[in-house]
Amino acid sequence: MATEHGVHAAHGSAAIANHAHPLDPLSAPEVERAAALCRQRHPSEQLRFVTIALEEPAKAAVAAFRAGGPIERRAAVVAIDRADGRVFEGRVDLAAGAVEAWTHRPGVQPYPILEEFADADRVIRADARWQAALRRRGVTDLDRVQIDPWPAGNFGDPAEEGRRILRGIAYARDADDANGYARPIEGVVAVVDLNAREVIRVVDEGAAPVPAADARYDAAAQPRLRDDLRPLEIAQPEGPSFVIEGHRVRWQRWRMRVSLHPREGLVLHEVAYEDRGRVRPIAHRMGLSEMVVPYGDPSPGQYFKNAFDSGELGLGRSTNALTRGCDCLGEIAYLDGVVAGGDGAARVLPNAICIHEEDFNILWKHTRAAGQTEVRRSRRLVVSSWATVGNYDYGFYWYFYEDASIECEVRLTGIIQPMAVGDGPIPPTAHRVARNVAGPIHQHFFCMRVDADVDGGGNTVYEVDTHPLPPGPDNPHHNAFAPALTPIRSEAESARTVNAATGRHWRIVNPSRLNAVGEPVAYALLPGETVAMMAGEEAAVARRATFARRQLWVTQHAPDELYPAGTYPSMSKGGDGLPAFTAANRPLEDRDIVLWYVIGVNHIVRPEDFPITSVHRAGFALKPWGFFDANPALDVAPPAAACDCPPGECVHGHDGHEGHAHGAAR
Ligand code: NI
Repeated sequence: MATEHGVHAAHGSAAIANHAHPLDPLSAPEVERAAALCRQRHPSEQLRFVTIALEEPAKAAVAAFRAGGPIERRAAVVAIDRADGRVFEGRVDLAAGAVEAWTHRPGVQPYPILEEFADADRVIRADARWQAALRRRGVTDLDRVQIDPWPAGNFGDPAEEGRRILRGIAYARDADDANGYARPIEGVVAVVDLNAREVIRVVDEGAAPVPAADARYDAAAQPRLRDDLRPLEIAQPEGPSFVIEGHRVRWQRWRMRVSLHPREGLVLHEVAYEDRGRVRPIAHRMGLSEMVVPYGDPSPGQYFKNAFDSGELGLGRSTNALTRGCDCLGEIAYLDGVVAGGDGAARVLPNAICIHEEDFNILWKHTRAAGQTEVRRSRRLVVSSWATVGNYDYGFYWYFYEDASIECEVRLTGIIQPMAVGDGPIPPTAHRVARNVAGPIHQHFFCMRVDADVDGGGNTVYEVDTHPLPPGPDNPHHNAFAPALTPIRSEAESARTVNAATGRHWRIVNPSRLNAVGEPVAYALLPGETVAMMAGEEAAVARRATFARRQLWVTQHAPDELYPAGTYPSMSKGGDGLPAFTAANRPLEDRDIVLWYVIGVNHIVRPEDFPITSVHRAGFALKPWGFFDANPALDVAPPAAACDCPPGECVHGHDGHEGHAHGAAR
């Protein structure tokens, strides 16, 4: 973590001790202590750790801590004994040094640890059937072949039932630093049992020519780089305006806690806004709860591709170390992440979370008459992280604005999942991007979990649709239209879809607090780009990722309901997660509720997506809707420095900034 300009060190035992909070993620010593205690409880040589994460204390315990109570520190552990493949869930009291629970969980598969990926790679390379299938396709430099492990899914194959399966697909490479996805070897899929450490089957059908072009995207491989840009520098000579203490971030009126979860990645807690001296909560917890990328090509080498990148692969552990000046520009503060390696050793992920400010154009403006303009620049706080999962790279961004609005944005880049094709016509489920390379159509779904806490206490979600009013004596000109608010009363009513025709959005209302116009305070959830899941209802992925068949779900808060496709989506048959949570049909009015909003991106692959795809953005917004009595950003100061407007045009309440000499600041 960079320590500069009053930004405090955010990790290390001293910082944790100074700022200890029940929602702080586990420190490296805590991870290793939990692992050691589990090893005492289960002394197998082959015990390996999938996740060691903070068991987040109940909201009541956090409230008690705030009131001066004790701090609780517990680890939630998922481990696998590779001697027999048994999966265990552990609950460790770190202060007491006790394993409070150690439970065998038959019939589930947590995501693979890195050691298992390495095993899969080794046994596939050694398999004679796989080698022969590659040679038949003219691939002879087998050492250079890249093997990508894919989550198996569950397609009802009895030979895979109860086993711990991965599917390995292969790519030809001419150099160790080549684009690993330029030359797919089509139709060869090695099915590996990770517990038995053997290849149980090699699929060899649907061959196509291995593409010849290496499709490099690195700078050295380009014939000529542009040289027509002059420097653009972002300077904050007095440092950033935020303060970080441990995992707590303060910026203007915003308050929040920021951390990295080994499975979910970037997580925010206790997001709140200070309004005239009172800190008003908005959300208890926000973060990505699951994602899935279903592919739409039915061919033997493609149909099984349905990566749940969070629950099947671990987004937190896949998080990038970010670089100042490249990933993040300006005055940056970084937070590190801590995850457990399979052996239980703590792995510190440096620069895992980037925190910085951005100028974001105009916040508000009005020109009364020539020379009478009020304008305010918008500054936003950006909290972000990036994860690389195989071919794709995903950025997760939260933006906080001075008018108390929030935006969540996912950024998609990296390399498309390619398939090799012949020179003739190809099916409509893939699109040609280069000679012998096509990109199968697919979708990206991101389920963002918002544990709402709008102004504290119980909340109710209303669906808001705007309709024309019927013509009649009250509407003689047929021009009238008005919003209709429908409460989502129970979980049976809570699986909702977007509707562009009615401008549908949702409002999270606190019925117990009224604003100045006598209405209950609220935040609105405004959908952005999204799309329905295209896989048929009976498709394996549609059963396993039921969450992606709707855009909004609402549930009553329950501490153990974190994952919309279940805790263990790997090889699941489906039914876990949101379908199970909402089956209880709990009431939702004036309760502690959780919203699950699904961002969807329909990716019809373009030639411009190859050999690397530029960032695509999708997200949603949370906007105060009667939460305040008026625009909360009236008190944002006018631009003070280096404003170029002609004398008399800026109506600035200058506060002693000598630097604002009209037109002469530079
Ligand atoms: Ni895509």
